[in-house]
Amino acid sequence: MARKLIFNIFRYNPQDPHSVPHTDTFDLEEAESMTLFIALTQLREEKDSSLQFDFCCRAGICGACAMMINGRPGLACHTLTKDLPDEITLMPLPIFKLIGDLSVDTGTWFRAMHEKVESWVHTSKSFDPQAEEERMDNALAEEIYELERCIECGCCVAGCGTANMRQDFVGAVAMNRIARFIMDPRDQRTEKEYFEVIGTDEGIFGCMGLLGCEDVCPKHLPLQDQLGILRRKMGWSAVKELFRFGK
Ligand code: SF4
Ligand code: SF4
Ligand code: FES
Repeated sequence: MARKLIFNIFRYNPQDPHSVPHTDTFDLEEAESMTLFIALTQLREEKDSSLQFDFCCRAGICGACAMMINGRPGLACHTLTKDLPDEITLMPLPIFKLIGDLSVDTGTWFRAMHEKVESWVHTSKSFDPQAEEERMDNALAEEIYELERCIECGCCVAGCGTANMRQDFVGAVAMNRIARFIMDPRDQRTEKEYFEVIGTDEGIFGCMGLLGCEDVCPKHLPLQDQLGILRRKMGWSAVKELFRFGK
């Protein structure tokens, strides 16, 4: 017999002056291979058409559907109800601006993060659209691609103790971006320039190293390795700067 699922869902519309934050409870009969995306869509179609949540790809690619699922950040489209208990509590991701109910604005946060860590290839070469693409060693391209798989869902940010305490912390996702540019031979930034961007309390030295970020990353990015590498690199840069034998 199918389970009856109980959904406790956070409700609040910041655009509506009469709205107050509260929880609504819905029940739903579980179906085979039901994901939270299917469950939420059914709830919206059958029980409350005003329920707000985000989805785009439904395939773990766009990162839009991240939410707190029984207290843990995760992708709703990739979460099967069969892996959850009978009672499911859904909350919006913390840290990001709330749009309404389970929908948050991750885009503004990510744009600010990219600007803060200057998340682009820095080169003095001018772009020639007629030129052949620069060649890169296959193994290195694959290493970089591994870090490029981030879908900017925000789960690692929501699951990070430091990011929850400090608004200025750039998060593992930013450190992952910087690690990617350090590997990239086209980026001409010096060690000192990278240090200025990430060698601070808002960057790698604010990280407590408890690895909540890696635990919740739905794409299984190697955040632990990158944080470790960056901590060593930036620590070494700080020592060199102290004794002024770096560049
Ligand atoms: S290891 Fe660092 S970045 Fe990851 S969750 Fe902990 S404090 Fe945040
Ligand atoms: S690093 Fe992982 S958890 Fe963080 S934003 Fe990217 S895909 Fe999401
Ligand atoms: S809807 Fe795109 S990742 Fe879930």
